[in-house]
Amino acid sequence: MEKKLRIMALGWPTMAVVLTCAVVAMLPGVSSTRFIVGANMGWTSNMNYTVWARGKHFYLGDWLFFVYDRNQMNVLEVNKTDYESCNADHPLHNWTTGAGRDVVPLNVTKTYYIISGKGFCYGGMKVAVTVEKLPPPPKAAPVKSGSPGLLSTFKGQIVVPALFAIAAVWDSFLLLA
Ligand SMILES: *[C@@H]1O[C@H](CO)[C@@H](O)[C@H](O)[C@H]1NC(C)=O
Ligand SMILES: *[C@@H]1O[C@H](CO)[C@@H](O)[C@H](O)[C@H]1NC(C)=O
Ligand SMILES: *[C@@H]1O[C@H](CO)[C@@H](O)[C@H](O)[C@H]1NC(C)=O
Ligand SMILES: *[C@@H]1O[C@H](CO)[C@@H](O)[C@H](O)[C@H]1NC(C)=O
Repeated sequence: MEKKLRIMALGWPTMAVVLTCAVVAMLPGVSSTRFIVGANMGWTSNMNYTVWARGKHFYLGDWLFFVYDRNQMNVLEVNKTDYESCNADHPLHNWTTGAGRDVVPLNVTKTYYIISGKGFCYGGMKVAVTVEKLPPPPKAAPVKSGSPGLLSTFKGQIVVPALFAIAAVWDSFLLLA
């Protein structure tokens, strides 16, 4: 009985660290950003996505999330020439899955040129997003968070191991008690 209690007690500091890490991982400055293209308007006609993308920073590890009418639009990545001319005949990547909910992982530092085929590009359904490598300097009110950045490196390589080390010491005290 007593032994069982000890074994349970042994795990708590480590459990606390695991939970703390889970919370830390969700804080701004660590997580990647999922951009809903067009925000609450989604991926649709009558939107100017050049205006939507203006002033936003897209970093490696972020995602674009396209929400739209699956019966009408699609999500095609094309090259610069085809972006400008709205040519959907030879996409570099067809991100359309059929659900009207498509995720584009921004895992390359380049400009992603994305259009809707089926004629919608001509009405302005096109977005160009340039993915940057470095996270922004710390801001008072971060609009987005960079990943991986200095802050996440600090948390991942210094804070987290330190917490585990403290927990290990704590564990052994409980064990000896
Ligand atoms: C885009 O692809 C088209 C067709 O394959 C090609 O003619 C054009 O030169 C390409 N443009 C760029 C910028 O690569
Ligand atoms: C893109 O992929 C979807 C789902 O596989 C398919 O239905 C659609 O025809 C494709 N579109 C183009 C332009 O390749
Ligand atoms: C980026 O993600 C796409 C889609 O998951 C994948 O096909 C591609 O290989 C990835 N590229 C890199 C450089 O990781
Ligand atoms: C979107 O807005 C920009 C800047 O106001 C303008 O240059 C561009 O022509 C617009 N695009 C469309 C498709 O209306």
